[in-house]
Amino acid sequence: MSVHTTIRRITVPQLRSFKGHRKIAALTAYSSVMASLMDEYLDFILIGDSTAMVAYGQPNTLAFTVEQVAAHTAAVVRATQRVCVIADMPFASYHESPEQAFRNAAYLLAQGGADAVKLEGGSVMAPTIEFLVQRGIPVLAHVGLMPQHVNTMGGYKAQGLDEETARIVMQDAKAVEAAGAFGVVLEGVAHTVGTDVTQAVSIPTIGIGASASCDGQILVTEDMLGMNGTRVPRFVKRYTDLDAQIKRSVERYADEVRTGVFPDMSHCFGVKRDA
Ligand code: KIV
Repeated sequence: MSVHTTIRRITVPQLRSFKGHRKIAALTAYSSVMASLMDEYLDFILIGDSTAMVAYGQPNTLAFTVEQVAAHTAAVVRATQRVCVIADMPFASYHESPEQAFRNAAYLLAQGGADAVKLEGGSVMAPTIEFLVQRGIPVLAHVGLMPQHVNTMGGYKAQGLDEETARIVMQDAKAVEAAGAFGVVLEGVAHTVGTDVTQAVSIPTIGIGASASCDGQILVTEDMLGMNGTRVPRFVKRYTDLDAQIKRSVERYADEVRTGVFPDMSHCFGVKRDA
């Protein structure tokens, strides 16, 4: 018996074809609730390793496992129908060898249901990207500021502010393009570098702190929804202030529970509802 399913999701080749035609809009998500709210509006959702910080309170993105990414990816896949779903490869899950990368990326596609994976690294990771792509795993690369390199960078430092690092970002972007990546995230780079790289490569550039000239943009959802405290990175635009709304609601709830205002009879069973 053969089973045919209709593919409704935005595919990787479609994402790639948007370059030069329309901008790509993406955000991170790690839960079904959030992903279901985004499905209608975005081109792709990234289950970023930023989940380690946002959902688990880790100080950086390093303490995150393939199993965790797969579980969060599966939650996002279950809640969505049309958006492309991309899973981030955690620190140390792809650095040892192309074979290690393949095993873990395949797990994220097979068990998590991701459509593609993202990994950090330019020229150094090019052979790994090529290995994955040739074996059926679409790769979104990530160059410029690479948060998994926080310890070697000594913090989160914008890249490409001088000629030497601008040259490295360009070289990295060209290397991942040549290796077969279908797109490249450009994080925390000088706006001129964002523009130059976008013009120089044939694959979409997805900017996060890399200027409006990129082919698309991505942000960490909690940052743009104002759910991440008061420290707002320069490249983030806050579209609302959910922190304040949530705090007000929780305060009111606690108050109403303590004063007996909630629940009232309309929240009780065995009570006739008004027609
Ligand atoms: O982990 C993450 O959230 C990312 C960004 C590109 C949004 O890698």
